[in-house]
Amino acid sequence: MRIVADPATFPARPQQARILVPTMGALHEGHLELIRRARSFAGPNGEVAVSIFVNPIQFDRPDDLAAYPRPLEDDLEKCRAEGVDLVFTPEADSIFFPDRSTTVLEYSLSKTLCGATRPGHFDGVCTIVLKLFNLIQPSAAVFGEKDYQQLAIIRRMVRDLNVPVEIIAHPTIRESDGLAMSSRNTRLTPEQRTDAPRIRRALVSAAKMLTPASILDTARAAIESPLNRIDYLQLVDAETLEPATDLKRSSLLATAVFYDKVRLIDNHAVPWH
Ligand code: PAF
Repeated sequence: MRIVADPATFPARPQQARILVPTMGALHEGHLELIRRARSFAGPNGEVAVSIFVNPIQFDRPDDLAAYPRPLEDDLEKCRAEGVDLVFTPEADSIFFPDRSTTVLEYSLSKTLCGATRPGHFDGVCTIVLKLFNLIQPSAAVFGEKDYQQLAIIRRMVRDLNVPVEIIAHPTIRESDGLAMSSRNTRLTPEQRTDAPRIRRALVSAAKMLTPASILDTARAAIESPLNRIDYLQLVDAETLEPATDLKRSSLLATAVFYDKVRLIDNHAVPWH
C-alpha cells in the first residue's frame, strides 16, 4: 500500500480504473464496506484509493473540528487489511493555500436540511471533494447514502461542472441495533449510545403513516427523549430536497439529532403512494 502525504507527488492515474473512497478517517465498518464496494468496481487490476483528511473548511463549529477523532495509524492498518492500493493523507496546509480565494458553491440542494443548520458546510464539502478529484484523478468515487444530501450535492456538482468522475452510492451501514454507523458514535456516552437507536426506529415506523403531517408528528414524538435535541426533522422530495407537501413522489424523511454536542444524522426513504 502506498501512502502519499504531499499532493505534488500523487501518482498519475493508471490505464485501469481508480476508485476513490473520500473519508475524514476514524474508519469504521461503514467505511470498510465503501472500500469493498470500490474494490468490486475497480476489479483485480484497478486501484482503490482512500483519502483521509479532516477537512477544516466543512466544520461550522470549532469544538466539533477539535473533537473529531484522528486515529491515523489504526486507519492505515484497516486500509492495509482491506488491500487498499493508495492512501492520501495530506496536511491541511499542503491542501489549502493561506490566501485561497476560490470556493465551490452549490446553491439549491444545499440550502435545506444540514445546509440550513450548518451554514457553509456544503461549500466546504464541494470544495474539498473537487480538489480531491483533481488531485487523485479517480474514474469513480463511492459515497454513503447516510449523507444523502451530500451525495445529491456531489452528483449535482459533477453534472453541472462536467467533472469526469462517476459517483457510486452505497446504502447506509448500520449497527445491529439499527444506529447508522458514524465516526461520531464513539463520542456518545453509554447512556446516549443506548438511546440513539430510537432515531432509526422512529424514521422507519413514521414512514408507514399516510400523510406528510402524520409522518412528521409520529417521527418527532418517537425521536424525542430527555437525552437529545432535534436539530431538524424534515420530509423532503427525494430529488429536489424541497419540502414534500404530498406523497405522490418518492420522498425522504431526514433528521439530525444532537446528543449533547454530538450531532447524528439519518434518513429513510418514503415511497410514493
Ligand atoms: O463524508 C465525509 O466524510 C466528508 O464530507 C468527505 C466527503 C470526505 C469530504 O470531506
